[in-house]
Amino acid sequence: MVCKRIVAERFRNIGSCDVEFGEGTNLLYGNNAQGKTNLLEAIGMFSLGKSFRGVKEQEFIKFGCKDALLSLDFRDSRREQNIKMFFDRSKNKKIEQNGVKIARTSEIIGQFRAVLFFPEHLNVIKEGPAMRRNYLDVAISQLRPVYLKSLQRYNHILGQRNKLIKNALSDRKSFDSTVEFWSYQLANEAAFITLARIGYLVFVETELKNCFSEMTGGKEVPSLSYLPSFRDAENFYGSREKLAGAYFGKLMSGHDREIAAGATLWGIHKDDVDVMLNGKNARLYCSQGQQRSLALGLKLAESAISAKDTGEVPVLLLDDVFSELDAGRREYLTERMKKGQVIITACAEEGLCDSAKIIRVENGSYS
Ligand SMILES: Nc1ncnc2c1ncn2[C@@H]1O[C@H](COP(=O)(O)OP(=O)(O)OP(=O)(O)O)[C@@H](O)[C@H]1O
Ligand SMILES: [Mg+2]
Repeated sequence: MVCKRIVAERFRNIGSCDVEFGEGTNLLYGNNAQGKTNLLEAIGMFSLGKSFRGVKEQEFIKFGCKDALLSLDFRDSRREQNIKMFFDRSKNKKIEQNGVKIARTSEIIGQFRAVLFFPEHLNVIKEGPAMRRNYLDVAISQLRPVYLKSLQRYNHILGQRNKLIKNALSDRKSFDSTVEFWSYQLANEAAFITLARIGYLVFVETELKNCFSEMTGGKEVPSLSYLPSFRDAENFYGSREKLAGAYFGKLMSGHDREIAAGATLWGIHKDDVDVMLNGKNARLYCSQGQQRSLALGLKLAESAISAKDTGEVPVLLLDDVFSELDAGRREYLTERMKKGQVIITACAEEGLCDSAKIIRVENGSYS
């Protein structure tokens, strides 16, 4: 996969830019607050369909302007494509793929394959379970459109079921007559999503172990395990139907607790992943550098899995990654980056391979 060219108009601090990238390593460098991360965020939009920063799209529009535009030319081993996005003050962006209007953002996910690493991604190790679930959801959705669809259905059903629970105190009758329907639907999607996540995690763990064995010479050994919202679930991983049955049983057995809590208490929105290094919980016991290496390792694993699965090496978008790593780990990453196209930001020009394309960033201009 190659990101060939991005055009941005009135996007964040960028007035207007047209940037072409080389097929190997590209370095965006410049002082703080010049627009390095903004350009990576713009490219990342085409892979995730939303900002990695988790912000509203209206925030993209340059201060004082009415609208913004992004246009990306990219190619995979089969063809060249263009996707355009238009943002205005209304809620929905407009998207065109090769000149044809696209109705839903989810239709472009998986077309431009990129793996993004931003300093915020460190929270996958440091913060609560939501970040780890998000890591899995983003990675699997890029590979399996059916996973994304199931996740969207799950979230919709969960919203309906939660509404029902919230109203149960005043309207117990409606609750009792429809909770079985919503629980059944939710259980079905939950079983599918759980098994997809567990299957994916097996690949991640293998890749992460390889990465750490090369990066640390075997001194640090990571491991991962999936933590379902109720322990019994593990007994049913062998069959989707049985797992759905177990979820259904759980969702039909604790209504008073759910009504008291005002929300659905079991399901994939409560699951977590235990990330460990040398057998110890990474969040509690790892050093900063180890946590950073784990967060980066998870992203490199995502890239390796995507490459094996699709035959396309995804573009790596790395924000400020070098400033966080010691010399040995930098060297490993530089070597690893040679596998495909990389767009990386840094405040200084040094430290990358000689063939890197250097792009200087100054006040929203790229030269
Ligand atoms: N909608 C917007 N309109 C205009 N400027 C914006 C908008 N959103 C963000 N900015 C500005 O863009 C500037 C550049 O941000 P960016 O995050 O790209 O910097 P950076 O080059 O990555 O810096 P650092 O090295 O500190 O990470 C910031 O000063 C920010 O205030
Ligand atoms: Mg930045």
